[in-house]
Amino acid sequence: MSTITPSLNPDPLRAQFPALQQQVNGKTAVYLDGPGGTQVPQRVIDAISQALSLGISNHGGPFITSERSDAITDAARAAIADLYNARNPEEIVFGQNMTSLTFAISRAIARTWQSGDEIILTRLDHDANISPWLLAAADKGVTVHWLDCDPTDCTLRLDMLPALLNERTRLVAVTFASNAVGSISDIQHVIKMAHAVGAWVYVDSVHYAPHGLIDVQALDCDFLVASVYKFFGGHVGALYGKYELLDALTAYKVRPAPDKPAGKWETGTQSFESLAGVTAAIDYLADIGEEGGTRRQRLVQAMARIQAYEMSLSERFLRGATAVPGLKVYGITDIENLAQRTPTFAVSLAGYTPEEVATHLGKQGIFVWHGHYYAVAVMERLGLLDKGGLVRIGFCHYNTPAEVDAVLAALTALAALAAEK
Ligand SMILES: Cc1ncc(COP(=O)(O)O)c(C=O)c1O
Repeated sequence: MSTITPSLNPDPLRAQFPALQQQVNGKTAVYLDGPGGTQVPQRVIDAISQALSLGISNHGGPFITSERSDAITDAARAAIADLYNARNPEEIVFGQNMTSLTFAISRAIARTWQSGDEIILTRLDHDANISPWLLAAADKGVTVHWLDCDPTDCTLRLDMLPALLNERTRLVAVTFASNAVGSISDIQHVIKMAHAVGAWVYVDSVHYAPHGLIDVQALDCDFLVASVYKFFGGHVGALYGKYELLDALTAYKVRPAPDKPAGKWETGTQSFESLAGVTAAIDYLADIGEEGGTRRQRLVQAMARIQAYEMSLSERFLRGATAVPGLKVYGITDIENLAQRTPTFAVSLAGYTPEEVATHLGKQGIFVWHGHYYAVAVMERLGLLDKGGLVRIGFCHYNTPAEVDAVLAALTALAALAAEK
């Protein structure tokens, strides 16, 4: 069914995820909810549990449990630096999640704004890369411009960007990929254009991170943020910022906290056990690459394999979807264009609300989200915000062709029931 050669065998990988063995009514559950958070491999569970059972303490004490916390933090910083290809681990800041990190950074950046300055937000973004900036702009009397997305294929209208940028533009906040419809943005282009007028770029990579390679040096982005629970780890956010920017900006922090990055941005006590899981999650990903070489080199190979495999799942899904009566897929549907999307599909099924579809699938052990998933601006643009949004079917590398077929079969059966209604 798929013309793309699969580059990865999911079976030995799936075997590492205890949660994927979950049974629902005697059948193995089908996890198509990855964009809302992935499951974790056993090594992540072991790393978190070992950190707690060996004993950890707060940062900076002259005894082994405190030294252990510091070692865990350093290792996690180095691991994320490898994943993002940051020059310096001190450019990596941990926090509760992407939303909290974005509120902290946006507040600090907004201190440098003046009335009359301008920022650009996009209609493709999750609200966590919109509301923090809207609130900061309102505080400082800054004008907000919107970069639209094309409702026909849910991609950013980059042709409109030049007209929005000018010498007053201070920041562009843009998503690497949409958590609702899966479109990948050409952020390299956005960054080049923004830098040409002296604006900073804040990239939301939360949805993109499990699906493709991040290289902050090649992108030359000023800030980039993702959440480890979306890429096979625990609930913690990880932000990259160029060292000179993290150093120069004023952080809202308590007085004894460090004055230098990354520490000055890490307010309060970190979740050390989650940080132990961060390193394990990245080592898991690196092991999908070929043996030998640095962790970064293995991550580069791993993400290429993951991307090619996920494209084969996307192709299988899109070809099958055309045969399901009443199923409408939003976003990029052109098989030739799969590199421009993640395997995340927002769909509607004629005769049912998104909630009804998700509930029906959930009873069969097929886990999908419905609604807006906080991608409020996208749903508004599609005219679906007050109509219950869409059903989101999200694949990742631990999903199988058989699971693609299972959700298509379940949707086909549901469509047939609608016809009988
Ligand atoms: C694209 C995107 N950005 C931001 C967020 C918010 O992330 P967090 O839950 O870490 O605050 C999400 C969460 O779903 C997301 O998908």
